[in-house]
Amino acid sequence: MLCSKYISFSFLLFSLFLHAVNCADPLYHFCFSQENYTANSPYGKELGDRCPHKKGAIIWYDNCLLKYSNIHFFGEIDNKNKFYLWNVQDVENPTSFNPKVKDLLIRLSNKAYANPKFYATGDLKLDSSSKLYGWAQCTRDLSGLDCKKCLETAISELPNC
Ligand SMILES: *[C@@H]1O[C@H](CO)[C@@H](O)[C@H](O)[C@H]1NC(C)=O
Repeated sequence: MLCSKYISFSFLLFSLFLHAVNCADPLYHFCFSQENYTANSPYGKELGDRCPHKKGAIIWYDNCLLKYSNIHFFGEIDNKNKFYLWNVQDVENPTSFNPKVKDLLIRLSNKAYANPKFYATGDLKLDSSSKLYGWAQCTRDLSGLDCKKCLETAISELPNC
């Protein structure tokens, strides 16, 4: 198994593009609060069906994420709410493939945290006929250093895939 660009930790994620109003099925969600809100509360408009009455939840779509909580979370790395998606096709040579994935993502994370938009895309040639494509991104509430730290943590967890 291998991880592709959807190594989607909550911090290695998608931005709110204007065209992101997307009604497709979400990629993943967590109802991370145990606390319930009461009727007529401002919480959970979008996540109401999946996380009824919960005071904290997060949901990912292809092009955006939505998170709410009764606990302040801006500017803090979220190491708890994370998930993996993988491409089920096998690569021909995992021994050489896996280090190349790591090299590409390290290069992209170094570009991403230094970019004001906090993302970077790129590719790496695998052999004469194939290329590896990558994407690294942070939510923009993080500091540059936390973005870097966060992406490094994500990359270090790749072997778990
Ligand atoms: C929240 O509501 C659910 C469903 O009604 C209930 O099972 C749960 O015990 C409640 N949690 C708390 C912390 O009150």
